Amino acid sequence: MTRPPNLVLETVLTRRSAPRLTEPAPNRADLERLVQAAATAPDHGRLRPWRLVAVSGDERARLGDTLGEAADSPEQARRAAAKPLRAPLLLSIVHRPVPGHPKVPEWEQLAATTAMVTTLSLLLHSHGFASIWRTGAAVQAPQVRKYLGVDDGEQLLGWLYVGTRCASDTADRRPFDTPTRITWHHTCR
Ligand SMILES: Cc1cc2nc3c(=O)[nH]c(=O)nc-3n(C[C@H](O)[C@H](O)[C@H](O)COP(=O)(O)O)c2cc1C
Repeated sequence: MTRPPNLVLETVLTRRSAPRLTEPAPNRADLERLVQAAATAPDHGRLRPWRLVAVSGDERARLGDTLGEAADSPEQARRAAAKPLRAPLLLSIVHRPVPGHPKVPEWEQLAATTAMVTTLSLLLHSHGFASIWRTGAAVQAPQVRKYLGVDDGEQLLGWLYVGTRCASDTADRRPFDTPTRITWHHTCR
């Protein structure tokens, strides 16, 4: 396929998760703008079944303390406490499905939430930022849910760690020749 360079294709092909992130992260106004744009991701029924809880500054240490409280051993607690400090901004991804929706089953609502997160990570990348979605057992810990204000009926899907990729880290370009997963059933009339 020989085509002129395409910005969207370039963005998709060059986005890579960033395990190590540093300042700057987007400011509040920029983040609002990017989240509004990400909210245009496909979403059956336009339910927007998600919300984000941003944690930055010294609150990251408080979140770390809470993650430590939820850990199983002192060693795990020590490591858990340091986790939120790996990026200047953490977006806690809260999935809030509408239960029993007459047209949109919950799996579709989860698909809409993940589509938004994926779109947001691409938008961040296209604006010079980087991110990584991280999960773990802590998403179910009552202390963590309480600290973030996650209600019954809401599901914490982890955190999008956001910032700027550390200069020493390279983001390998994704190969574009992986086999596709398309099986064709096609006839011509
Ligand atoms: C739902 C979800 C959960 C993830 N959880 C973690 C995680 O807990 N720890 C981690 O290092 N990466 C996590 N990742 C990031 C993946 O490891 C990463 O996307 C994958 O290695 C591919 O790398 P790439 O994003 O650079 O293409 C998660 C990604 C998704 C979509």
